[in-house]
Amino acid sequence: MSTTYRIAPSILSADFARLGDEVKNVIAAGADWIHFDVMDNHYVPNLTFGPMVCAGLKPHAKRPDGTPVPMDVHMMVQPVDALAQAFAQAGADLISFHPDATPHAHRSVQAIKAAGCQAGLVFNPAAPLDVLDWLIDEIDLILIMSVNPGFGGQGFIDSALRKVEAARKRIDASGRDIRLEVDGGIKAANIRQVADAGADTFVAGSAIFGQPDYAAVIADMRRALAA
Ligand code: DX5
Ligand code: ZN
Repeated sequence: MSTTYRIAPSILSADFARLGDEVKNVIAAGADWIHFDVMDNHYVPNLTFGPMVCAGLKPHAKRPDGTPVPMDVHMMVQPVDALAQAFAQAGADLISFHPDATPHAHRSVQAIKAAGCQAGLVFNPAAPLDVLDWLIDEIDLILIMSVNPGFGGQGFIDSALRKVEAARKRIDASGRDIRLEVDGGIKAANIRQVADAGADTFVAGSAIFGQPDYAAVIADMRRALAA
């Protein structure tokens, strides 16, 4: 398989007093995307950051040669459409939302695309993939949660592997170019198993920011993926 794997460090586990530097450092360490976890303390039981912080970090999300590094915004918030608009203006490249957080998921996808961003759907550990029956032709990304959303540092939920396999089958059947991302409890020790289930994009928060040498962790992950 000639998959190009992407590693998307979640700055949820970064040092919030030094977020700009953390973004720069993790890009220097080999990050492909910056995963930006937006929580509202209603849809999920935690409160993080919003569009102003995204806009503040955007200038830091680039490689030393100036190449932009995509901002992968994972919205765990309501209302979806208005906030998606705000994140698009704040420099998001990909915007993903949970279909159960909006009354009109198709409209939310349209709103994200109309704002010039790629659109993703996120599935909680107990959520079925059914909405893909009707939305797979519209989206750019599927994000499978392998923990319950809200906090970093939780253990990987094994049933997510079956859901990744099911999502991979749907993507292959669609013939479309859709990224399959997995979020929660990913580390160098289990990333290969998640890739074998069909994922190509990996969020990792505590596994990277919890260690002093980000580059060593990302290199371990890439070694595991290449094995
Ligand atoms: C959880 C977030 C994750 C979180 C993952 O709601 O969506 O992106 O940062 O953290 P780890 O990698 O520590 O499980
Ligand atoms: Zn996330």
